[in-house]
Amino acid sequence: MERELEIRRRLREAGQEQLLRFWDELGSGERDSLLRELELLDARELREHCRRAQDAYVRESGAPQRLDHSMSPVPTEFLGSVRRSPPGELSAWEDEGYRQISQNKVAVLLLAGGQGTRLGVTYPKGMYRVGLPSRKTLYQIQAERILRVQQLAAEKYSTRCTVPWYIMTSEFTLNPTQKFFEEHKFFGIDQADVIMFEQRMLPAVGFDGKAILERKDKVAMAPDGNGGLYRALADNRILEDMEARGISYIHVYCVDNILVKMADPVFVGFCVSKGADCGAKVVEKSYPLEPVGVVCQVDGIYQVVEYSEVSPETAEKRNPDDSLTYNAGNICNHFFTLDFLKHVAGTSEQELGYHVAIKKVPYVDDEGNLVKPVRPNGIKMEKFVFDVFQFAKNFVAFEVVREEEFSPLKNADTADKDTATTARRSLLWQHYRWALKAGAKFTDANGRAKAEDSGDPEVEEPPAVCEISPLISYFGEGLDVHLSNKDLSSPFILDVQRV
Ligand code: UD1
Repeated sequence: MERELEIRRRLREAGQEQLLRFWDELGSGERDSLLRELELLDARELREHCRRAQDAYVRESGAPQRLDHSMSPVPTEFLGSVRRSPPGELSAWEDEGYRQISQNKVAVLLLAGGQGTRLGVTYPKGMYRVGLPSRKTLYQIQAERILRVQQLAAEKYSTRCTVPWYIMTSEFTLNPTQKFFEEHKFFGIDQADVIMFEQRMLPAVGFDGKAILERKDKVAMAPDGNGGLYRALADNRILEDMEARGISYIHVYCVDNILVKMADPVFVGFCVSKGADCGAKVVEKSYPLEPVGVVCQVDGIYQVVEYSEVSPETAEKRNPDDSLTYNAGNICNHFFTLDFLKHVAGTSEQELGYHVAIKKVPYVDDEGNLVKPVRPNGIKMEKFVFDVFQFAKNFVAFEVVREEEFSPLKNADTADKDTATTARRSLLWQHYRWALKAGAKFTDANGRAKAEDSGDPEVEEPPAVCEISPLISYFGEGLDVHLSNKDLSSPFILDVQRV
């Protein structure tokens, strides 16, 4: 009774008493679970959250705010590039990255709290199989890349080393992710080096400024965006864990890029060599109006500008050499120093604004019926991971080659872009190129050689199916010994058991 009264008091203060409107109909278990959910919400924060959501909705309903006149591209001295840098420079950065890894100074941090609504699966995206011959999931591919990059650093610098894997999950993804890793024995990684933690959730708010009930005993909640990372780091004392392990640099990445180079030594080495506290990997846009966020400056401050915030004229603007002026497409791959994260999680995080997403949120109507709306009815508020660029003292961007490093799984296969099919093709094309480079030849059923090594992974299958385990090669290295002068037939899998 006392708990109930306290919650009622808080909800009154927050102007959200409607959340208890089915109280009289609830059984004791349901009442308990609703109270437990509501106890996590602070009255003042809830009131602020609902007010902010409603204001943001009103603002969003107006014309999009254009930033064209305040924008400028990343200055070239702060923009590294795989394509434009001489090989000597690239290998110096790579050596530096491996050196840091070998000294146990590098961790990777996976953002895996998203709901994957566009893909349309009910389980975490990392558990998805894109249809590779090996049937590996995204999580397994990532785990194997960590193991291999550790091994390469250890061999290079004659040490033993570990790249701890931090995984940010949410209420939706924590349990299934944990279970999946346990079932797969953490893919061979020491369990103590896989650290899962949970981000916060926020109530979805109706256009009237009232938090939505998704059941009579449950508030509609959604993760607080991938920028919820910074609060989650503090909530779960993750930075203390990093400090205790001696970590100095953190590579943060999102779950859905099948080509992601975990703890990428070149990127880490580049950022460390430049003395950066914060960095972003980018790819060149594939066409001027491609709907991706662009890393640039707004009034001299680094940020990612959404395509909706830029007019087509600005998006099409070109440099004298004909390259696009705003060409640095964000691929959600970030570098941070531990000191920078401490600073952000400690104080600056509170300054981060919310982004608003207008969504269809299932709800119970006043008669208590569950309604699946056909039109958007709710406001979800999210922080974005890249919004901390503004706090960097020394920000850098690093441009990598899209075909080699970026192919995200966003959509169901009915879409024509960023699907399981395009992700699988990108990986198989890459491995096919690596095999040819290592001196392998693929023959068809009649023994004729297939030689083409170029094609469009978006629309074509590679001439032969070749999948190479990340345990054998992290990024194409070390394959001569397995593949040089070999005649291979498709499909070909190179994995540890077959070596
Ligand atoms: C993201 C980037 C976008 C970039 C694109 C490239 C952000 C905000 N946007 O867009 O600029 O062009 O990737 O692929 O970074 N996540 C959480 N918690 C949440 C929400 C998301 O951990 O509350 C995770 C997801 O699990 C995923 C990552 O963040 O790993 C990206 O989230 P998503 O919402 O898919 O962003 P995109 O729209 O794809």
